[in-house]
Amino acid sequence: MLMIIDSPELEVHCCRAADPTFAEVSVVFTVHTQMELKLLLITVLMMVSLSATAAADYIRPQPRKTFHLPWHSKPSSYPQQVHISLAGEQHMRVTWITDDNSAPSIVEYGTSPGRYDSVAEGETTSYSYLLYSSGKIHHTVIGPLEHNSVYYYRCGGQGPQFQLRTPPAQLPITFAVAGDLGQTGWTKSTLDHIDQCKYNVHLLPGDLSYADYIQHRWDSFGS
Ligand SMILES: [Fe+2]
Repeated sequence: MLMIIDSPELEVHCCRAADPTFAEVSVVFTVHTQMELKLLLITVLMMVSLSATAAADYIRPQPRKTFHLPWHSKPSSYPQQVHISLAGEQHMRVTWITDDNSAPSIVEYGTSPGRYDSVAEGETTSYSYLLYSSGKIHHTVIGPLEHNSVYYYRCGGQGPQFQLRTPPAQLPITFAVAGDLGQTGWTKSTLDHIDQCKYNVHLLPGDLSYADYIQHRWDSFGS
């Protein structure tokens, strides 16, 4: 189901989350002014109401199978599960995992591919739960970064190069919102759908892997 709520002040494109198990919604919205932030709250309430009305006619597709990713042997210091998050004004946090406890928490970065003019060092943590012990979890904040710019970066001094685009300095900013992703075939179709939208920031409100005491699912979700 795709709903487009047409407001002269606020663009909101709403679609039901592709994962039918949870039947929540993913949203892409663009905020142009402060007034729109207030309108956004009202619109979200409308969307919840409309979604509940539409649910009566909604035929839920069959669940898809859980992802099982193939295991690849990599050096223990190789960066895994690399992802980024906003870390305040003009900064981004890069997070990744290594099997090697002594792997460095450095991120090299720059605005040209393969040329890293800057380097930042972060911190590590780890945790255990029941029979599970995580790898070394690295958190490194990079910045200050220019707005609306592409940066290339590499984690731990090895592994592949990644790239990111920083958010613009001023409104409008387009957000994508999707929660309850799980890790099934529907996860991929939901994310593929969102990829079709040109957004600046993805808000991931939670309910991610549905590990349900099977902790290694966190690792496969991160991968
Ligand atoms: Fe949930």
